[in-house]
Amino acid sequence: MISFDQAHHLRRLAKATVAQARVVCLVSGKGGVGKSNLAANLALGLASAGRRIVLVDADLALANLDILFDLPPGPNLSTLLKSPHNPAEITTDIAPGLRLVPGASGLTALADLSDFHRARLISFLDSLERSADFLIVDASAGLSSNVLSFAAVADDVLVLTTPEPPAITDAYAVIKVLLMERQLSSILLVVNMAKNVSQVRSVHARIAGAARKFLHFDLPLAGFVLYDRHVPLAVTARRPFMWSFPRCRAARQVHRLAKRLLNSQPPLRSAQPQEPFLLRAANCLL
Ligand SMILES: Nc1ncnc2c1ncn2[C@@H]1O[C@H](COP(=O)(O)OP(=O)(O)OP(=O)(O)O)[C@@H](O)[C@H]1O
Ligand SMILES: [Mg+2]
Repeated sequence: MISFDQAHHLRRLAKATVAQARVVCLVSGKGGVGKSNLAANLALGLASAGRRIVLVDADLALANLDILFDLPPGPNLSTLLKSPHNPAEITTDIAPGLRLVPGASGLTALADLSDFHRARLISFLDSLERSADFLIVDASAGLSSNVLSFAAVADDVLVLTTPEPPAITDAYAVIKVLLMERQLSSILLVVNMAKNVSQVRSVHARIAGAARKFLHFDLPLAGFVLYDRHVPLAVTARRPFMWSFPRCRAARQVHRLAKRLLNSQPPLRSAQPQEPFLLRAANCLL
């Protein structure tokens, strides 16, 4: 028979070995560089590769992933925190293997929750993350404390930029701040809306060169999506381009990025069992 202490130890070990979702957060310095479109379509790409994905709209001010999927307004984290909804109601099934948490704008209200509601939310978020392989988090642009909170607790941070000089300068500024804030996770560049691959290379070379020289950091290029007229067409039709134009150039490049993520090693994590990602982010916010 095992002692109480041994049983306790075994339970802790079992908890520690339950895999939590790998959290990939999309950020940018400048707005409008394509984070939400990439988040939505990358989530679809990973789901079509057989992974279980939870897509989180973490743009606390201007959540709009639901618009990209043409979903009717429904409960989000904020409504959940204000009223006794069943937590499961806030996720929407988008496609096989893909669920959406539309709008995390209620996170700051966590501090005001009763113990009962808080415990219920924690257990829901915990099961949500444990039943997913990836959490794809679409953050807002810039360096607000919201963005930094989400990025600080993610495993991989994808910094998006376009070839425009202000976007490049702002991407570098974001990388600089992230490097001051973070330790365990990986920071990777994604170039969006370039004309061709040589422009992608030159954008990467500029930012990576400055990062190496001034921040002593090697910035990998995770991937790129070239300018593709199908993307705005799909946005207007309120359908992700992976659905509307599955063979377009942007869709193929998103699949390539998804494959790279799947083939890469997740960064090292603390061996301790962790709170759900959304709560860790909320704790940073409060
Ligand atoms: N690869 C691409 N080719 C052409 N157009 C693109 C591409 N990626 C994004 N766009 C266009 O850029 C616009 C902005 O995209 P999106 O809303 O995804 O950016 P964002 O970074 O999430 O913006 P915000 O900072 O406001 O949240 C969209 O209208 C979309 O049509
Ligand atoms: Mg957006």
